[in-house]
Amino acid sequence: GDGERAVRVERDGKVAIVTIDRPAALNALSASVLGELEAAFLALADDVPAIRGVLLVGEGGRAFVAGADIRAMTSLSPEEAAALSRRGHRAAAAIEALPAPVIACVDGYALGGGLEMALACDLIYATDASTFGQPEVKLGLIPGFGGTVRLPRAVGLARAKELIYSGRRIGIDEALDSGLVARSFTDRAALLDGARATVELIATNSPTAVGTAKRVLVEAAGRPTEVASDIEVGAFEDAFRTEDMQEGVAAFLEKREPRFGGA
Ligand code: CAA
Repeated sequence: GDGERAVRVERDGKVAIVTIDRPAALNALSASVLGELEAAFLALADDVPAIRGVLLVGEGGRAFVAGADIRAMTSLSPEEAAALSRRGHRAAAAIEALPAPVIACVDGYALGGGLEMALACDLIYATDASTFGQPEVKLGLIPGFGGTVRLPRAVGLARAKELIYSGRRIGIDEALDSGLVARSFTDRAALLDGARATVELIATNSPTAVGTAKRVLVEAAGRPTEVASDIEVGAFEDAFRTEDMQEGVAAFLEKREPRFGGA
């Protein structure tokens, strides 16, 4: 209920786990949950590079997130609805601004605003029992937390239009086939183990380089080729100013493992 925290952050070595914990409402995103999510990811930025990746999960085993909180939307004025939409976009922006990868770990429903939060993550891993969709048009709404922006980037414009206009739900096979989901797992334990293993693999690399690669990928998305290319050139130049680049290249030539300091 009101006043209770619905977003929990735990540390497990190099991995942080952000849990949306409102299982009675299938983890639906109210304005306050979105505010907590944004704050959690802004705070986590201070823990990079001690943490090398984040898993975003939903509590309860039935849903990642079943969407924006429909009950809370009934009393909103159009202006308040715009503020809610902005909050969703700010939470998504905080996920994208974190200078370390975020893996959405979907086990169950990822619908509406839930799919939109997953799309703000760097990649989506999911269990076979997962379901995805943008059902907003069934409510007389449209996606409000970035779905019209990020779904086409993830699955292509035609597939995104088909999903958004129909509101139909897709299962894991179609989600994998469309490129929405990067990898599937038989159950929740395997999902979390798989996501942790990916963070461990990422953690063998330069945190500076990974963080810069994420920034460039996020900033370049949807930009014209020349603009995106300039962003990449600038970041490539900056990489040559880092100690990690000196160390990585030296370690290769000396045939040893690199020791990245993150500077
Ligand atoms: N908001 C608020 N509460 C929700 C919710 C949501 N998005 N989704 C589910 N719940 C609540 C239900 O009201 C129910 O609560 P009560 O027990 O108090 O009645 C509880 O969670 C369990 O849900 P169901 O009884 O409906 O469970 P089910 O197994 O029969 O169905 C479901 C599961 C198919 C996910 C169904 O709950 C559903 O369709 N949910 C809504 C999905 C949706 O339309 N999402 C888009 C929301 S709009 C949006 O997200 C806008 C945007 O882009 C910003």
